[in-house]
Amino acid sequence: MNVLIILGHPNSDSFNHALAETCRAQITQNGHSVFFHDLYKEAFNPVQNSLNNSKDDDIEQYCSELAYSDGIIIIHPNWWGQPPAIVKGWLDRVFLPDVAYTFIDGANDNLIPKGLLKAHTALVLNTSNTSEEIEEKIYKDPLETIWKNRVFHFCGISNFKRINYSVMKDSNIEQRKVWLSELRKLVGTYFPKE
Ligand SMILES: Cc1cc2nc3c(=O)[nH]c(=O)nc-3n(C[C@H](O)[C@H](O)[C@H](O)COP(=O)(O)O)c2cc1C
Repeated sequence: MNVLIILGHPNSDSFNHALAETCRAQITQNGHSVFFHDLYKEAFNPVQNSLNNSKDDDIEQYCSELAYSDGIIIIHPNWWGQPPAIVKGWLDRVFLPDVAYTFIDGANDNLIPKGLLKAHTALVLNTSNTSEEIEEKIYKDPLETIWKNRVFHFCGISNFKRINYSVMKDSNIEQRKVWLSELRKLVGTYFPKE
């Protein structure tokens, strides 16, 4: 299998990086290929400068990897209930019509969206400093809606899983080790040994 990992966190010693490395190590160990993108390290340009029907040269590779992947893993912190701008820009510029989705004719001249992604699984890993209770009751967990409903269901992936690691500022090394160990097992179930 080919698995795409997208990481959006500016600090290389962050827990986000540890999550990404854990995924990469487990997937590779199980015999699969990984397309790995640390968007900050690559200085990904998140700005969509024009709206035309052709792909910009700098995103060709990102688009073909997205279309070619059997699994997609997105890793980033919660910033104002949203992905950091660099991840949002990757979404804006890479999830293009005829790459990630299209529209087909429906009844009464309506256009119906049709997902084009071939990946069987999408996994989103987020970190935050808000308790689960406050996030759900007060803020309504916008990242769940964005990634699950708006992006991945729309683009044809129904096997969606998201984990929100919180409260990061109160978590100690032991807790983080447990999270990484649980993640290793989970990733192994999605992308088992061939
Ligand atoms: C610009 C910015 C906005 C943030 N907004 C939120 C937020 O809306 N909700 C929240 O729980 N944490 C928020 N945080 C805290 C981050 O989610 C937290 O620092 C991060 O998940 C910690 O992960 P790390 O240990 O890998 O750096 C914000 C942090 C920054 C820098």
